[in-house]
Amino acid sequence: MYRIVVLPGDGIGPEVTQEALKVLRAVGERFGHRFAFEEHPFGGICIDQHGVALQPETLRRCRRAHAVLLGAVGGPKWDDPRAPVRPEQGLLALRKALRVYANLRPVRVYPELASASPLRPELLEGVDFIVVRELTGGLYFGKPKRQWDAPDGPRAVDTCLYRAHEIARVLRVGYQLARQRRRKLTSVDKANVLATSQLWRRIAQDLAREHPDVQTEHALVDSTAMALLSRPRSFDVLVMDNMFGDILTDEAAALAGSLGVMPSASLGDGKLGVYEPIHGTAPDIAGQGIANPLGSILSAAMLLRHSLDLPVEAAAVEAAVARVLAAGYRTADLAPPGQPTVGTAAMGDAVVAALAEVPAAAR
Ligand code: IPM
Ligand code: MG
Repeated sequence: MYRIVVLPGDGIGPEVTQEALKVLRAVGERFGHRFAFEEHPFGGICIDQHGVALQPETLRRCRRAHAVLLGAVGGPKWDDPRAPVRPEQGLLALRKALRVYANLRPVRVYPELASASPLRPELLEGVDFIVVRELTGGLYFGKPKRQWDAPDGPRAVDTCLYRAHEIARVLRVGYQLARQRRRKLTSVDKANVLATSQLWRRIAQDLAREHPDVQTEHALVDSTAMALLSRPRSFDVLVMDNMFGDILTDEAAALAGSLGVMPSASLGDGKLGVYEPIHGTAPDIAGQGIANPLGSILSAAMLLRHSLDLPVEAAAVEAAVARVLAAGYRTADLAPPGQPTVGTAAMGDAVVAALAEVPAAAR
């Protein structure tokens, strides 16, 4: 029995998460596994109900689970920059408390979706890379972090702090992945300006020597931002700090055609992981049943692979998604103007139906 804590969150979070659960239940039936799902309020809805974005009891439940499946948090209702509690604090606290320091964000371009990308199709062919984003350090967590009134007016400070071991461990995750892939690793930094990046680069150079079988490249974040669009095929594994990873993975989503199809896995030293689509809560379309559930469904596939050690089941879900896209199912974010679309639940149903037909080879 696999225990999965489900944190649907805000906006479209609950809608897309429902579909991922549908798919996991279908996986259970087809492959003979039992999942125990338990839902808890998290993010803005938890602030409304309990005054905090993450309750201590929810955190305790997460620690005892095999995996956490998350929707998304935040929204205009909780967006006041002066608000004392914010939904995002719950997300950051969860990542920190569960020590999931490596955030895997695969970027794969489905050939059928090339037309949904703003880039020319010939640039997109064969794009398949993964960003490993450091998730529990850097600018997001360094202290001091505050706003105050100084005699000359309001001021604010954020601190980018990295300890050597925090850099080394996330780079090692990248090297492990590179060894299972095309053996190329791009370490991204801003070593021409930032002290944290200079430390990052030194450590990456040391680790490069430890991994002679992997081709290591050190790249500056600004030029990488451009290279992701001009030569996306040339990347295999990219490793970068928290802030750079937040920005470049949204950029990379443009390659895939939509943020809606992008999954992620947040991993630490053990098996417990947090799985979430990288899109946000999309308040503009929340509650309409039109959100794309594929990012959440593909996150569930990563959950099967990384936390439950069920690679065959994970591959089956991914194959089912590929089939559904090949068959022409498109949510609104993916459909060319004027083309027919399916809603969130219909997309989830289509993946469940495709899962039943995925051939034995993919099992
Ligand atoms: C992400 C999101 C979060 C982040 C926000 C919601 C705090 O943008 O997971 O990429 O910045 O990490
Ligand atoms: Mg982000």
